[in-house]
Amino acid sequence: MTDSRMTVSRRRAIGSFALAASSFGFARSSSNASEPHVSRLSRIQLGLVADVHQDIIHDGYARITSFISDMVQRKPDAILQLGDFALPRRRNQPFLDVWNSFDGDRYHVLGNHDMRDLGFKREQTMEWWGMKSRYYSFDVGGWHFVVLDGNDPNPGRWSGYVRYIGEEQREWLEADLRQTSAPTIVFSHQQLESDSGIANSGEVREILENANQEAARTKVIACFCGHHHTDKLTEIAGIRYIHINSMSYKWVGGNNARLRFPKHIEETYSNVKKTVPYQDPLYTVLTLDPDSMTMGLEGRSTSFVPPSPSEMRLPNAEQMKSQISSRTLRVSLG
Ligand SMILES: [Fe+2]
Repeated sequence: MTDSRMTVSRRRAIGSFALAASSFGFARSSSNASEPHVSRLSRIQLGLVADVHQDIIHDGYARITSFISDMVQRKPDAILQLGDFALPRRRNQPFLDVWNSFDGDRYHVLGNHDMRDLGFKREQTMEWWGMKSRYYSFDVGGWHFVVLDGNDPNPGRWSGYVRYIGEEQREWLEADLRQTSAPTIVFSHQQLESDSGIANSGEVREILENANQEAARTKVIACFCGHHHTDKLTEIAGIRYIHINSMSYKWVGGNNARLRFPKHIEETYSNVKKTVPYQDPLYTVLTLDPDSMTMGLEGRSTSFVPPSPSEMRLPNAEQMKSQISSRTLRVSLG
């Protein structure tokens, strides 16, 4: 090793040590632990599932059953679905019954497909799910959770599914964040880190970032979304934005339709040919641990029901992943 290399690696070593020491000091800081919101925190787990699309995929019942069976055994503190779940059709009752068989708190987020497909209205879906408010917040183990409804009408002319968070909901969000000192996680169906999700995502991020500024710490630690059927993490202004992949499939559209299943399935579920289904159901468990000051997501990976996007030579095939990444992310709580 040359002298100059030694210098660089010594500098790196000193730098790493300094970083580790400061993290250690921060984690064990008594002023941090004495913060009331920190001392109240307990280790909690949330089972998360996104975009089951019971009305598109033919085996949604088997997929949700697999998730619920696992959750019944593991007993997380609560379960939450991130939207595009199931329409209030008589034939979907067994599906909802399986979801409701989890003997613990169950939370819903409204997706765009839950409020107009097949002529159903938001209120009908909410009533069938047993959802009292379209946006709301709740606490588990000292942590605060906010559920948004990203399906407010977009101002001006708009075609396709609406994706917006209106003034009334933004005012509610501001007030809700102000009344809590707990570390907070936000759930919305569409992404908040880009206008290709919630069209006014910048206005919503400003509310979250202002809440962190007012608290002089990262009070809002993360935002989770579904909708995009992707597996992704972005960080903006210290807030993690995480996409939870669909339980069921990647949508590839009519131009890329492929028949993969027996005729009676393809006929009953006429949109399934426009998807590339995931062989096994994807879901995750979120663990919030105040002792290690981490937010963990359990990974799960499967294959595509062939042909896969790369076998179909889709131009963006490499971005389509039949997985939810395992993640352990450090969070600051003080
Ligand atoms: Fe969606």
